[in-house]
Amino acid sequence: MKLIRVKDDAEMSAAVCDRLVCCLKKKPTALFCIATGGSPTGAYAAFVKRVQEEKLDTSQMKILKLDEWCGLEKENPATCESYIQTHLLRPLQIGEDRYISFDPLETNADSECRRISDLIAETGNIDCCILGIGKNGHLGLNEPGKTINPFTRKVTLDARTKTHAMLKENKSEATQGYTLGLKELLASEEILFLISGAEKEDACRAFLRQEINTEIPATFLWLHGNTTAFLNQEDLEI
Ligand code: PGA
Repeated sequence: MKLIRVKDDAEMSAAVCDRLVCCLKKKPTALFCIATGGSPTGAYAAFVKRVQEEKLDTSQMKILKLDEWCGLEKENPATCESYIQTHLLRPLQIGEDRYISFDPLETNADSECRRISDLIAETGNIDCCILGIGKNGHLGLNEPGKTINPFTRKVTLDARTKTHAMLKENKSEATQGYTLGLKELLASEEILFLISGAEKEDACRAFLRQEINTEIPATFLWLHGNTTAFLNQEDLEI
Protein backbone atom coordinates (compact mmCIF):
# COMPACT_ATOMS: atom_id res chain seq x y z
CA MET A 1 0.00 0.00 0.00
CA LYS A 2 1.39 3.36 -1.01
CA LEU A 3 -0.04 6.29 0.95
CA ILE A 4 0.16 9.68 -0.73
CA ARG A 5 -0.89 12.80 1.15
CA VAL A 6 -2.14 15.52 -1.17
CA LYS A 7 -2.96 19.05 -0.07
CA ASP A 8 -6.30 19.45 -1.84
CA ASP A 9 -8.68 18.14 -4.49
CA ALA A 10 -6.72 19.75 -7.34
CA GLU A 11 -3.50 17.98 -6.30
CA MET A 12 -5.31 14.67 -5.86
CA SER A 13 -7.05 14.98 -9.23
CA ALA A 14 -3.77 15.73 -11.02
CA ALA A 15 -2.00 12.78 -9.36
CA VAL A 16 -4.83 10.34 -10.12
CA CYS A 17 -5.09 11.66 -13.68
CA ASP A 18 -1.37 10.93 -14.21
CA ARG A 19 -1.95 7.31 -13.18
CA LEU A 20 -4.95 6.95 -15.50
CA VAL A 21 -2.93 8.33 -18.41
CA CYS A 22 -0.04 6.01 -17.54
CA CYS A 23 -2.35 2.97 -17.50
CA LEU A 24 -3.93 3.94 -20.82
CA LYS A 25 -0.54 4.46 -22.50
CA LYS A 26 0.80 1.18 -21.16
CA LYS A 27 -2.30 -0.76 -22.23
CA PRO A 28 -4.64 0.95 -24.73
CA THR A 29 -7.17 -1.89 -24.32
CA ALA A 30 -7.27 -1.48 -20.50
CA LEU A 31 -10.46 -2.08 -18.50
CA PHE A 32 -11.06 0.80 -16.05
CA CYS A 33 -13.44 0.26 -13.14
CA ILE A 34 -15.09 3.58 -12.39
CA ALA A 35 -16.35 4.84 -9.04
CA THR A 36 -18.76 7.76 -9.11
CA GLY A 37 -19.40 10.48 -6.50
CA GLY A 38 -17.55 13.61 -5.50
CA SER A 39 -14.09 12.14 -4.87
CA PRO A 40 -13.00 11.24 -8.44
CA THR A 41 -14.83 13.95 -10.44
CA GLY A 42 -11.80 16.24 -10.71
CA ALA A 43 -9.56 13.36 -11.80
CA TYR A 44 -11.97 12.38 -14.59
CA ALA A 45 -12.18 15.99 -15.81
CA ALA A 46 -8.37 16.23 -15.82
CA PHE A 47 -8.13 12.90 -17.67
CA VAL A 48 -10.58 13.97 -20.40
CA LYS A 49 -8.62 17.23 -20.80
CA ARG A 50 -5.30 15.35 -21.14
CA VAL A 51 -6.80 12.94 -23.67
CA GLN A 52 -8.06 15.83 -25.76
CA GLU A 53 -4.90 17.98 -25.47
CA GLU A 54 -2.46 15.13 -26.10
CA LYS A 55 -4.76 13.35 -28.57
CA LEU A 56 -4.41 10.10 -26.61
CA ASP A 57 -5.98 7.02 -28.16
CA THR A 58 -9.06 5.95 -26.18
CA SER A 59 -10.57 3.94 -29.03
CA GLN A 60 -9.97 0.61 -27.29
CA MET A 61 -10.23 1.40 -23.57
CA LYS A 62 -13.15 -0.13 -21.71
CA ILE A 63 -15.21 1.11 -18.79
CA LEU A 64 -16.87 -0.86 -16.02
CA LYS A 65 -19.37 0.77 -13.65
CA LEU A 66 -18.50 -0.06 -10.04
CA ASP A 67 -22.00 0.18 -8.60
CA GLU A 68 -25.49 1.54 -9.04
CA TRP A 69 -28.58 2.55 -7.08
CA CYS A 70 -31.50 0.20 -7.75
CA GLY A 71 -34.91 1.36 -8.90
CA LEU A 72 -34.03 4.68 -10.56
CA GLU A 73 -34.48 5.48 -14.26
CA LYS A 74 -31.08 5.44 -16.01
CA GLU A 75 -31.60 9.07 -17.06
CA ASN A 76 -32.11 10.21 -13.45
CA PRO A 77 -29.14 12.52 -12.67
CA ALA A 78 -28.73 10.71 -9.32
CA THR A 79 -27.63 7.48 -11.02
CA CYS A 80 -24.06 6.32 -11.43
CA GLU A 81 -25.11 5.75 -15.06
CA SER A 82 -25.82 9.47 -15.64
CA TYR A 83 -22.56 10.39 -13.92
CA ILE A 84 -20.44 8.07 -16.07
CA GLN A 85 -22.22 9.07 -19.28
CA THR A 86 -21.59 12.75 -18.50
CA HIS A 87 -18.05 12.60 -17.14
CA LEU A 88 -16.48 9.86 -19.26
CA LEU A 89 -18.50 8.03 -21.91
CA ARG A 90 -19.74 11.02 -23.90
CA PRO A 91 -16.54 13.12 -23.75
CA LEU A 92 -14.39 10.09 -24.63
CA GLN A 93 -16.91 8.72 -27.16
CA ILE A 94 -17.01 5.27 -25.59
CA GLY A 95 -19.95 3.27 -26.90
CA GLU A 96 -22.01 0.44 -25.42
CA ASP A 97 -19.64 -2.17 -26.90
CA ARG A 98 -16.87 -0.99 -24.56
CA TYR A 99 -18.99 -0.39 -21.48
CA ILE A 100 -20.12 -2.84 -18.78
CA SER A 101 -22.88 -1.53 -16.58
CA PHE A 102 -25.54 -2.64 -14.08
CA ASP A 103 -29.07 -1.71 -15.15
CA PRO A 104 -30.66 0.17 -12.22
CA LEU A 105 -34.14 -1.04 -13.21
CA GLU A 106 -33.28 -4.74 -13.57
CA THR A 107 -35.17 -6.60 -10.85
CA ASN A 108 -33.78 -10.08 -11.53
CA ALA A 109 -30.65 -9.64 -9.41
CA ASP A 110 -29.26 -13.14 -10.01
CA SER A 111 -29.26 -12.87 -13.79
CA GLU A 112 -28.06 -9.25 -13.73
CA CYS A 113 -25.08 -10.07 -11.50
CA ARG A 114 -24.27 -13.15 -13.56
CA ARG A 115 -24.38 -11.03 -16.73
CA ILE A 116 -21.92 -8.52 -15.25
CA SER A 117 -19.58 -11.20 -13.85
CA ASP A 118 -19.58 -13.04 -17.20
CA LEU A 119 -18.77 -9.84 -19.09
CA ILE A 120 -15.86 -9.11 -16.73
CA ALA A 121 -14.58 -12.67 -17.13
CA GLU A 122 -14.76 -12.36 -20.94
CA THR A 123 -12.92 -9.03 -20.87
CA GLY A 124 -10.27 -10.09 -18.36
CA ASN A 125 -9.44 -8.60 -14.99
CA ILE A 126 -9.79 -4.93 -14.18
CA ASP A 127 -6.56 -3.13 -15.11
CA CYS A 128 -7.14 0.09 -13.22
CA CYS A 129 -9.77 0.38 -10.49
CA ILE A 130 -10.74 3.79 -9.11
CA LEU A 131 -12.40 3.64 -5.71
CA GLY A 132 -13.58 6.12 -3.10
CA ILE A 133 -14.46 5.50 0.54
CA GLY A 134 -17.92 5.97 2.05
CA LYS A 135 -18.51 7.90 5.27
CA ASN A 136 -19.31 4.48 6.73
CA GLY A 137 -16.15 2.90 5.30
CA HIS A 138 -17.89 1.17 2.41
CA LEU A 139 -16.16 0.30 -0.86
CA GLY A 140 -18.43 0.44 -3.88
CA LEU A 141 -21.67 -0.58 -2.19
CA ASN A 142 -19.98 -3.27 -0.11
CA GLU A 143 -21.58 -2.09 3.11
CA PRO A 144 -20.37 -2.58 6.71
CA GLY A 145 -21.62 -5.69 8.50
CA LYS A 146 -20.66 -8.70 10.62
CA THR A 147 -19.85 -10.60 7.43
CA ILE A 148 -19.41 -9.60 3.79
CA ASN A 149 -20.41 -11.65 0.77
CA PRO A 150 -17.41 -11.31 -1.58
CA PHE A 151 -19.29 -11.53 -4.88
CA THR A 152 -21.02 -9.14 -7.27
CA ARG A 153 -24.56 -8.79 -5.99
CA LYS A 154 -27.57 -6.73 -4.99
CA VAL A 155 -27.29 -5.24 -1.50
CA THR A 156 -29.44 -3.42 1.03
CA LEU A 157 -28.08 0.06 1.60
CA ASP A 158 -26.75 1.13 4.97
CA ALA A 159 -28.58 4.09 6.58
CA ARG A 160 -25.64 6.46 5.94
CA THR A 161 -25.37 5.45 2.30
CA LYS A 162 -29.01 6.42 1.75
CA THR A 163 -28.00 10.01 2.56
CA HIS A 164 -25.29 10.12 -0.14
CA ALA A 165 -25.06 13.47 -1.94
CA MET A 166 -25.88 11.92 -5.34
CA LEU A 167 -29.29 10.89 -4.01
CA LYS A 168 -29.92 13.89 -1.75
CA GLU A 169 -28.97 16.57 -4.26
CA ASN A 170 -31.22 15.00 -6.88
CA LYS A 171 -34.12 14.41 -4.45
CA SER A 172 -34.03 10.68 -5.16
CA GLU A 173 -34.28 7.71 -2.85
CA ALA A 174 -32.88 4.20 -3.01
CA THR A 175 -32.88 1.35 -0.53
CA GLN A 176 -30.88 -1.18 -2.54
CA GLY A 177 -27.95 -1.17 -4.93
CA TYR A 178 -25.86 -3.32 -7.23
CA THR A 179 -22.13 -3.58 -6.55
CA LEU A 180 -19.04 -5.41 -7.72
CA GLY A 181 -17.83 -7.66 -4.91
CA LEU A 182 -14.53 -7.43 -3.05
CA LYS A 183 -13.38 -10.53 -4.93
CA GLU A 184 -13.57 -8.74 -8.31
CA LEU A 185 -12.11 -5.51 -6.90
CA LEU A 186 -9.14 -7.22 -5.25
CA ALA A 187 -8.33 -9.00 -8.54
CA SER A 188 -7.56 -5.60 -10.16
CA GLU A 189 -4.03 -5.08 -11.45
CA GLU A 190 -3.92 -1.62 -9.86
CA ILE A 191 -6.22 0.21 -7.45
CA LEU A 192 -6.33 3.98 -6.97
CA PHE A 193 -8.10 4.66 -3.68
CA LEU A 194 -9.31 8.22 -3.11
CA ILE A 195 -9.94 9.29 0.49
CA SER A 196 -11.55 12.66 0.17
CA GLY A 197 -14.65 14.60 1.17
CA ALA A 198 -16.45 15.74 4.28
CA GLU A 199 -17.10 13.37 7.20
CA LYS A 200 -14.47 10.82 6.15
CA GLU A 201 -12.15 11.17 9.18
CA ASP A 202 -13.53 8.24 11.15
CA ALA A 203 -13.47 5.88 8.17
CA CYS A 204 -9.99 7.10 7.23
CA ARG A 205 -8.63 6.59 10.77
CA ALA A 206 -10.07 3.06 10.83
CA PHE A 207 -8.50 2.34 7.43
CA LEU A 208 -5.08 3.59 8.55
CA ARG A 209 -5.12 1.18 11.52
CA GLN A 210 -4.12 -1.57 9.05
CA GLU A 211 -6.58 -4.10 10.48
CA ILE A 212 -9.08 -5.97 8.35
CA ASN A 213 -12.54 -5.21 9.66
CA THR A 214 -15.83 -6.06 7.95
CA GLU A 215 -17.38 -3.01 9.64
CA ILE A 216 -14.98 -0.92 7.48
CA PRO A 217 -14.97 -2.75 4.12
CA ALA A 218 -12.23 -0.46 2.73
CA THR A 219 -9.76 -2.16 5.11
CA PHE A 220 -9.80 -5.17 2.75
CA LEU A 221 -7.60 -3.11 0.44
CA TRP A 222 -4.69 -3.96 2.76
CA LEU A 223 -4.85 -7.42 1.15
CA HIS A 224 -4.15 -5.99 -2.30
CA GLY A 225 -0.60 -5.80 -3.61
CA ASN A 226 -0.79 -2.70 -5.81
CA THR A 227 -2.99 -0.04 -4.23
CA THR A 228 -2.18 3.64 -3.93
CA ALA A 229 -4.29 5.55 -1.39
CA PHE A 230 -4.55 9.31 -1.87
CA LEU A 231 -5.39 11.20 1.32
CA ASN A 232 -6.83 14.65 0.76
CA GLN A 233 -5.46 16.65 3.70
CA GLU A 234 -7.87 19.51 3.05
CA ASP A 235 -10.77 17.31 4.22
CA LEU A 236 -9.03 15.07 6.73
CA GLU A 237 -6.69 16.71 9.23
CA ILE A 238 -5.07 13.31 9.76
P1 PGA B 1 -18.03 10.43 -2.47
O1 PGA B 1 -18.66 8.99 -2.30
O2 PGA B 1 -16.87 10.31 -3.38
O3 PGA B 1 -19.14 11.23 -3.11
O4 PGA B 1 -17.66 10.94 -1.12
C1 PGA B 1 -17.88 7.92 -1.92
C2 PGA B 1 -18.76 6.80 -1.44
O5 PGA B 1 -19.74 7.05 -0.73
O6 PGA B 1 -18.45 5.65 -1.73
